Amino acid sequence: MIGAVKTFPEGFLWGAATSAYQIEGSPEADGKGPSIWDTFTHTPGTIADGGTGDVACDHYRRWREDLRLLEELGVNAYRFSIAWPRIFPTGGGHSERRGIDHYSRLVEALLERGIEPLVTLYHWDLPQALQDAGGWLNRDTTERFAEYAATCFDCYGDRVGWWGTINEPWIIGLLGYLHGLHAPGVKHDVRGEATCFHHVLLAHGRAVQELRAAEGRARIGIVCSLAPHYPAGDDPADIAASRASDGYVNRWFLDPVLKGSYPQDMWERYESLIGALDFVRDGDLVTIAAPSDYLGVNYYARRVMRAVPGQRPFPWEVVHGDAPRTQGGTEGAPMTGAGTEITPHAFTDLLVRIRDDYGDVPILITENGAVFPDEVHDTRRVQFLHDHLAAVHDAIEQGVPVRGYCHWSLMDNFEWALGYAQRFGLVHVDHETQARTVKDSGRHYARVARANELVGVEE
Ligand code: FCB
Repeated sequence: MIGAVKTFPEGFLWGAATSAYQIEGSPEADGKGPSIWDTFTHTPGTIADGGTGDVACDHYRRWREDLRLLEELGVNAYRFSIAWPRIFPTGGGHSERRGIDHYSRLVEALLERGIEPLVTLYHWDLPQALQDAGGWLNRDTTERFAEYAATCFDCYGDRVGWWGTINEPWIIGLLGYLHGLHAPGVKHDVRGEATCFHHVLLAHGRAVQELRAAEGRARIGIVCSLAPHYPAGDDPADIAASRASDGYVNRWFLDPVLKGSYPQDMWERYESLIGALDFVRDGDLVTIAAPSDYLGVNYYARRVMRAVPGQRPFPWEVVHGDAPRTQGGTEGAPMTGAGTEITPHAFTDLLVRIRDDYGDVPILITENGAVFPDEVHDTRRVQFLHDHLAAVHDAIEQGVPVRGYCHWSLMDNFEWALGYAQRFGLVHVDHETQARTVKDSGRHYARVARANELVGVEE
């Protein structure tokens, strides 16, 4: 049972989130060109269980059925991404009418049902032709992105009210160029990582400029994966490591977008690792800081940090569960099915911190969710959802302007390098038959979304 009624602000957006490559399948339909994820998943050894997105949830063909799921979930918003290579099969030049029309029908059908489309332009499926020309390490890719964004504004701008530019710049560089776990699968390239970061941020700024030039009235913002940081203990080295890692994960993206400068500490760290950051040119920061309308926040877990002196490239590590409660720790925190700690209070800390450090930028929670292996009776996800929504509500009560919440994910889907075993959905998908079944968490979410307030968790 909960105490005082926790009502959300009027007009709060209740959404579910997906991305194109994770659900669509049909990689060659209607003239689509290959993306780096088509290439990567077809490279042996990259994906657990050898999975690919060739079929995924077959959503490109079953999207009408999936709209009914959104209605069952009671949401008034749906966050999805456009596959760039469906619009420009080779990244630029010739655009593909059939791909454009597909998303046009989807947007139309959402609006008919009173569901606000929240559209992400880049959720990682870079056209392979652009990768062949250097991908995000090639500055010209930012111009191709601006062209693609302008085309989308032109085609859908009369109906789409919320645009997200780039999904999770940190993950793109970290997993794409440092760990090699995501496309394009490059390892140990710190310069590549930093170059990629800068270019995706620049691409974000260019898209914002394009929207303003088109006099679009829609809102636009970047979507960042953010993690509140806590030192593992009172050791000054851990406190310094926590601050430094915060520079790498959070401030490296928030500062340029919202303040127009890179954080000095992290800038110096990169310089000491890779020499001059000569890919940052005069005027770039003005472009990156082109005023956005909101910040998209993806929150999954906190980071509890311990110093690892001398470790390269970064002298810190994430540890589990042993931070004092006063520093965000939860001794004995429950775990998700993916082994990450469940610490909803850290979500409140994160949201309050964004407001304290960056001002009253409106916030849209663009992703939050967890892996639980339970199938349809997913009691743990119901609890997770309840606790994280309560955490968002706490932040709103403290004056943080949160405009909406999207749960990751609408349905179980292709979880990148982890394949199909990791289930994040409010809707269960049988990957053999494509049968969809709303989980208990989906029913709970529908009750909350329809009431616009937290409702009790049913036993
Ligand atoms: C985020 C991604 C999303 C999904 C979730 C679990 O990093 O944006 O596509 O994979 O994690």
